[in-house]
Amino acid sequence: MRYDARRSVPVRGHKQLYKFIRPVLFQLDPELSHNWSLGLLRQAYHLPGIAAALRRRFADRILSLPVEVMGLRFPNPVGLAAGLDKNARYLQPLADLGFGWLELGTVTPRPQAGNPKKRLFRLPAQEALINRMGFNNVGVTGFVKNLRAQNKPGLLGINIGKNRDTPIDKAADDYIAALRSIYPYADYVAVNVSSPNTPGLRELQETNKLQDLLSALKAEQARLHKKAGKYVPIALKIAPDLDDTEIAMIARLVLQHRFDAVIATNTTLSRPGIETVPQAAIAGGLSGRPLKDLSTRVVRQLYAKLRGQIPIIGVGGIGNAADAWEKLTAGADLVQLYTGLIYSGPGIVKSIVAGLKEHVNAYDVTDLSQALANARTNVPLPEPDTTESA
Ligand SMILES: Cc1cc2nc3c(=O)[nH]c(=O)nc-3n(C[C@H](O)[C@H](O)[C@H](O)COP(=O)(O)O)c2cc1C
Repeated sequence: MRYDARRSVPVRGHKQLYKFIRPVLFQLDPELSHNWSLGLLRQAYHLPGIAAALRRRFADRILSLPVEVMGLRFPNPVGLAAGLDKNARYLQPLADLGFGWLELGTVTPRPQAGNPKKRLFRLPAQEALINRMGFNNVGVTGFVKNLRAQNKPGLLGINIGKNRDTPIDKAADDYIAALRSIYPYADYVAVNVSSPNTPGLRELQETNKLQDLLSALKAEQARLHKKAGKYVPIALKIAPDLDDTEIAMIARLVLQHRFDAVIATNTTLSRPGIETVPQAAIAGGLSGRPLKDLSTRVVRQLYAKLRGQIPIIGVGGIGNAADAWEKLTAGADLVQLYTGLIYSGPGIVKSIVAGLKEHVNAYDVTDLSQALANARTNVPLPEPDTTESA
């Protein structure tokens, strides 16, 4: 009997609770409700006993599913995607949801306000979001100050970008400046060349510009490695709106420059399957369920070219363990999510890790990478052992 990944995993308590909280949150403006929820969670952590209670509820009983990627040991393969904690303000509360790691940012060298509000929109029927935030953030100095004021709760990726008013031919200077400031605090750095909300940013994915950017970053990484005595891997975060030729070109360049990972993908400018929905006309990047297949396609194409030589972090439309498993079997080594957290609530991380663990057990192996190696080469699942359970 095959394991049914859609089968529910024991998270009913959180789901029930979130079912009551969600309609209240969804009455509020989306950006306001994100900020309030995170702000309230952070405040709650200052009340005696609350942090411990939350940790017990969400994190403590989480099944660990360790995996080694980029030379780092992740306690489980489900991470928080960039954009939720842009200013590194909510480390412990987010880590306590059970994420294997957090990716913070995007942070730019100088502070900037981002696009005018309203800039975040919900599409509840599609379990999707459209955002055009535009890298609103406190800048690297404020970001580092926030980081230093908190304990490090686990592995941290830091996602960097360029300021809106930096011309595209000077973009590398911004990435280098941000890299220098955050290098001592990051377990890995994500280079974001794929946000659709900073004019011209995606041009950095074109061959010559990408070639120049990757070589500048690798040179700076080598310099910082020597200076700090610590090697910090760098991942490239790419868009889902790339054709096969562009994906192949990116794969060739990351191999050539020995980049440490690729994160696939950011939000999409397309509106797959929701073209006729009135809200599809809202300008911005689409995330959540409608993005899922598009980003899995990019993961699959990349994996076909990279063949495990460079790890892939799969992100886009992951809402349950089956979605996460699909990304992993398509070639991802790790996965991340953002929109799924908004629609399914804080229990989602625990639910996905538990579901993935069942997939691993179904292959009768102890290790996620072994299970994935089998799944990717279509090794059949072992027959269930009926003698023990009979
Ligand atoms: C409101 C919002 C803000 C985001 N901000 C960033 C960002 O600053 N940097 C970045 O690399 N990705 C950002 N993203 C993209 C996510 O990290 C992720 O790649 C994308 O949403 C797809 O994953 P999901 O479908 O699980 O949300 C943002 C997404 C959302 C919804």
